[in-house]
Amino acid sequence: MRLLVVGANGLLGSNVVRAGQQRDWDVCGTYHSTQPDFAIPLVQFDLQAYNEFETIIEEVDPDVVINCAAMTDVDGCDTDPETARMVNSSAPGALAAQCATREIQFVHVSTDYVFDGTTRDLYSETADPNPVQVYGESKLAGEQAVREEDTAALVVRLSFVWGIHRIRSELTGFPAWVRGQLQAGEEVTLFTDQWLTPTRAGQAADVLLDLIDHDASGLFHVACASCVTPYEFGEMIAEVGGYDAELLDAGSMNDADRDATRPAYSCLDVSCVDATLDQSQPTLREDVDVVRDVFESTYIW
Ligand SMILES: NC(=O)c1ccc[n+]([C@@H]2O[C@H](COP(=O)([O-])OP(=O)(O)OC[C@H]3O[C@@H](n4cnc5c(N)ncnc54)[C@H](OP(=O)(O)O)[C@@H]3O)[C@@H](O)[C@H]2O)c1
Repeated sequence: MRLLVVGANGLLGSNVVRAGQQRDWDVCGTYHSTQPDFAIPLVQFDLQAYNEFETIIEEVDPDVVINCAAMTDVDGCDTDPETARMVNSSAPGALAAQCATREIQFVHVSTDYVFDGTTRDLYSETADPNPVQVYGESKLAGEQAVREEDTAALVVRLSFVWGIHRIRSELTGFPAWVRGQLQAGEEVTLFTDQWLTPTRAGQAADVLLDLIDHDASGLFHVACASCVTPYEFGEMIAEVGGYDAELLDAGSMNDADRDATRPAYSCLDVSCVDATLDQSQPTLREDVDVVRDVFESTYIW
């Protein structure tokens, strides 16, 4: 299998490269600003110049393309909506069209932020999206463009992505920040009024490749099986790492001064991917245990 990973230098992209290598797939990648230190063929590519992708796929001749690249800065999307729409909406649609023409399988990654968070029921793939910030709007438009251009495309929504960045070999995302605060003995304020299903990047990468192996197409939610608050995630980190849980302070989303609104609830229902792959998505605790060492206070990088 020849796999082309768009955005090989990102958290998810680096894990997809690694997962492909572990399966002995023939992996190639694109990067945006920084060339990753992977021993695979790499080419620089800016999603804003999406017409140049045609030359890349002619040269690489992949069986499957996974688009892990996006403008992921939620507040940055609100302040620069034009770039957000170009990178998160127009570009994925153009890539999907170019892959469809050549009968290359196209896989696109989206977000739980397509939902408004007004329910307290898990969001299934059939739930109506209603994004409340430019990031979510641009990602939803990207999903729609991909599915219009390529009816066989696979679109996967993730939630609150964290994990080990496979180029820098370091914990990345929310838990890295929490661990850093706790390690330094500093108080950390975490929301008790936001609910998510944190997705470990390494787990999502494996599930993406499993779905490709199953010839899956259409829309899937991929996340852990636990709907938690950031505060509860922080409690787990403190417990696993052996840190003082007294340093955790309960906070509210309403007190955060940010450009973009976030949904208060964006937990994803993963029963569809469970049924398709005939395996359950891990609980958050199981995901944390997979990389348990990096949370421990005695861990040396
Ligand atoms: N992070 C989350 O909590 C979260 C939650 C739900 C869904 N998702 C989705 O999951 C996917 C992967 O996200 P991630 O967590 O791995 O984010 P990430 O680490 O920020 O990676 C994003 C990647 O996109 C690249 N990129 C940004 N602008 C680009 C451009 N104009 N042209 C080409 N590449 C560009 C970045 O490269 P540079 O760094 O070089 O610019 C980076 O490699 C995205 O589709 C995201 O929307 C993320």
